[in-house]
Amino acid sequence: MTANELRAKYIAFFKSKAHAEISGKSLIPENDPTVLFTTAGMHPLVPYLMGEPHPAGKRLTNYQKCIRTGDIDAVGDSSHLTCFEMLGNWSLGDYFKKEAITYSFEFLTSPEYLALPVDSLSVTVFAGEEGVPRDEESAAIWNSLGIPVERIHFLPRADNWWGPAGETGPCGPDTEMFVDTGKPSCGPECRPGCHCGKYIEIWNDVFMQYNKQKDGTYQKLERTCVDTGMGIERTVAMLNGKKSVYETEIFIPFIAAVESISGKKYGANEADDVSIRIICDHARAATFILGDPKGVTPSNVGAGYVLRRLIRRAVRHGRKLGIDGLFLGSIAEVAIGMYRGPYPEIGEKADFVLAELKAEEEKFLVTLQKGEAEFEKMLPNLLKNPQRTMSGRLAFKLYDTYGFPIELTEELAAEGGLSVNREEFDEAFKKHQELSRAGSEQVFKGGLADHSEQTTAYHTATHLLQKALRMVLGDHVGQKGSNITAERMRFDFTHPAPMTPDEIRRVEEIVNEQIRADLPVVMEIMPLEEAKKSGAMALFGEKYEDTVKVYSIGSFSKEVCGGPHVDRTGTMGVFHIQKEQSSSAGVRRIRAVLERAAE
Ligand code: ALA
Repeated sequence: MTANELRAKYIAFFKSKAHAEISGKSLIPENDPTVLFTTAGMHPLVPYLMGEPHPAGKRLTNYQKCIRTGDIDAVGDSSHLTCFEMLGNWSLGDYFKKEAITYSFEFLTSPEYLALPVDSLSVTVFAGEEGVPRDEESAAIWNSLGIPVERIHFLPRADNWWGPAGETGPCGPDTEMFVDTGKPSCGPECRPGCHCGKYIEIWNDVFMQYNKQKDGTYQKLERTCVDTGMGIERTVAMLNGKKSVYETEIFIPFIAAVESISGKKYGANEADDVSIRIICDHARAATFILGDPKGVTPSNVGAGYVLRRLIRRAVRHGRKLGIDGLFLGSIAEVAIGMYRGPYPEIGEKADFVLAELKAEEEKFLVTLQKGEAEFEKMLPNLLKNPQRTMSGRLAFKLYDTYGFPIELTEELAAEGGLSVNREEFDEAFKKHQELSRAGSEQVFKGGLADHSEQTTAYHTATHLLQKALRMVLGDHVGQKGSNITAERMRFDFTHPAPMTPDEIRRVEEIVNEQIRADLPVVMEIMPLEEAKKSGAMALFGEKYEDTVKVYSIGSFSKEVCGGPHVDRTGTMGVFHIQKEQSSSAGVRRIRAVLERAAE
């Protein structure tokens, strides 16, 4: 079964169970500063899992492009990927464990769908702890469907809990589904979740049953939800009896492209295979990121830094394989051809993707030549060090003077049998960042969006600000992105020139007038076409469902948006623009706060 077939089957199955298909969202989360990328299908749905009504209803299904960079250093082995597609189905306060598990079982075993033998399936369920009971209910449902108790494993939080990585939010036990590959077990402890390769996890049903409180306790949710996730690449490998995602029809064309450019043969030599896999994964991920409507480009902070790192690491492994010239474009073309169907934005941005890759590759080749030459000069001295470590100070010098990334210094050092004092490097790097005030907003924590009162107020403020900017600067102003924490908001918008102090003051005044007027915020659900006709603003480049939510703030502003928002503007505080600066060509960035009157 191919990825295209699996995607189609999954969506068709859940549509037959009265789920509405919704489109996947951008890889760059909107209004969630806690993560750089969309890491799971549920991520764009967090507001709805928290209680906002979804315009498409209570039963949803989709496929979502995801990026997870936590394991970036593990990429190169036969299973890790930074970029993958996730299939999902959701119940927003509708069905719960019984239906979710029954649907999963039917999709996995029905001859019309995945047709897996029941005997090959094992499941895990939550063993219970910290005031949350053992999930006997899920176990009983699996058992009633024909999974014998020996193949139902109760596991602790580390395995069977999906929770807010942040402090608070919806969370709950999950049940994970595994396929036994038939390999002999690695020992008496071997069970689903063991990494020996006997059991492959293919699906996770999360039961959002609790809301984690600030004090660490769990409050039962009135409205329970289901969130599920099935990784396409891994499932395709399993269904086709492949040991590795790289042996599937998804990766074969990528590998063939690297083989033809480098003249190396995949499978001939492990070191080369690692490089080939890194190039395939990273070039594919970089194509997805560049091909996203949000338009991230390589930079030294946040998502742009991850993109830069992916491109640069791929280039370096290209050189290890003996590739001299520019090559990432040809690999990206494979990704563009493969994914322009399911993700039309990648096709639409093809020229941009290729141009950005080429520019970054060219820039990095110059950096590499200088940095590697410098490292070679340092090496004889480094090898004299009996501890076989390179000081963080020296590694920082390579970074600071030649732009040579620390990860590459570490790789070069490792090749010479040396380690780098990373702590010392990080310290120097932090000092440098503080000095240059760059990267102050990099947040690498994972987690669910914060929906505190203050964050919600900032969200409403972005609507007021956008309208005020259009009134003062003109209708060319469009939102390019926003980033909100409980402490401040950032708002990027199209405008060709710096704002004057007078323009800034007028925008502030207009926003504060709307806050003082204590306007009601009202949500309506309507077809997208109708929303547009009614003059509602919508985000540039964002994909919308056919039916959308429209938030009106009095008669002042009207925007297509997922919410949530404050009920009335009166309690938001006093709006103050702290900074207005350039973000990229033709895009300005405002940083603003809502100041509370002294209590
Ligand atoms: N959100 C769950 C996961 O990503 C389904 O595994």
